[in-house]
Amino acid sequence: MKVKVGVNGYGTIGKRIADAVSLQEDMEIVGVTKTKPDFEAKNAVKKGYKLYAAIPDRVEVFEKAGLPVEGTIDDLLEKVDVIADCSPGKIGAENKPRYEKANVKAIFQGGEKAGTVEVSFSTLSNYDAARGKNYVRVVSCNTTGLTRLLYTIKEDFGIKKVRATMIRRVVDPKEDKKGLVNGIMPHPVSVPSHHGPDVQTVLDVNITTTAFKVPTTLMHLHALNIVPEKNVTADDVKGSLDKEPRIMLVSADDGFTSTAKVIEYARELRLRYDLYENVVWEDSIGMDDGEIYVTQAIHQESIVIPENIDVVRAMFDLASKEESMKITNRTLGIG
Ligand SMILES: NC(=O)c1ccc[n+]([C@@H]2O[C@H](COP(=O)([O-])OP(=O)(O)OC[C@H]3O[C@@H](n4cnc5c(N)ncnc54)[C@H](OP(=O)(O)O)[C@@H]3O)[C@@H](O)[C@H]2O)c1
Repeated sequence: MKVKVGVNGYGTIGKRIADAVSLQEDMEIVGVTKTKPDFEAKNAVKKGYKLYAAIPDRVEVFEKAGLPVEGTIDDLLEKVDVIADCSPGKIGAENKPRYEKANVKAIFQGGEKAGTVEVSFSTLSNYDAARGKNYVRVVSCNTTGLTRLLYTIKEDFGIKKVRATMIRRVVDPKEDKKGLVNGIMPHPVSVPSHHGPDVQTVLDVNITTTAFKVPTTLMHLHALNIVPEKNVTADDVKGSLDKEPRIMLVSADDGFTSTAKVIEYARELRLRYDLYENVVWEDSIGMDDGEIYVTQAIHQESIVIPENIDVVRAMFDLASKEESMKITNRTLGIG
């Protein structure tokens, strides 16, 4: 069986999901939507994706621009088994009644509230919770990055508590209308940031987070202090993280001195410099007074793509967690 997938919102996340689905043998991409006929819409058509209007009364706007669509989102919903809602945050919840009416399963993204769905999802920690479900949310880029790393450490050593600080890229590279040019913004100013509670929607762990936005578009950076249940050494932690393919260890000795260098490396590695892996500085892993210290960088635009592929297999009960991860990792070149 090939699961028929549609993408509602061919933006930063949507276009990456469309490309990743196209690489899977057990899935096919039926169509993608846009609200306007800009260069992104033209690129989608050039790549061979069937284009639909995300907002039904915009069909004429596409026609006038010489980029006719195949139909509206409602027409697309008639042809798919599952829709990946990649609309801007909070719009997914507004779109949900449309999916319910069409009786189509839906995957939502991290910009939606946990209460919108039956279950929040992060492959490593709770793949089985999404099995057979109709409405699932793949947690955000920061939450995915935190959850992968904490799950791996928790499995091997247990965790008593976590304190984590997120240095967040202010916007994605394409966003020219908003941005922080000169300053550091506590975001939110109050403690905790939403990231810790969001991790707790997928992983049972004692965590408190703070977050700051800085004027960069490349990646987020996380500084974590983790108190494990077992006595461990820095080498134990390195070994634990090194065996998880979705975590990539890098070293300053190898020239990875900043997120700029990590992205320079990724420019050689992948289309759009996508980095699906958590990028952990091996040299940052240390122990002090029973606490693990570790620093990681997260490529916000692509980190959730493997999870968006795994969640389809979970929702349609196509594979176990291990089988799904193996296929997703192989097709996306992870590990
Ligand atoms: N970017 C990240 O770093 C990141 C990381 C993880 C998770 N997420 C989450 O992923 C989701 C999408 O974010 P994004 O960064 O991909 O946003 P984006 O780049 O702004 O893309 C949003 C897409 O949704 C379309 N759209 C607008 N209104 C719509 C509607 N009413 N119905 C359907 N589609 C609509 C837009 O089309 P037009 O351009 O034609 O208007 C655009 O293609 C959000 O929940 C976000 O929180 C984002």
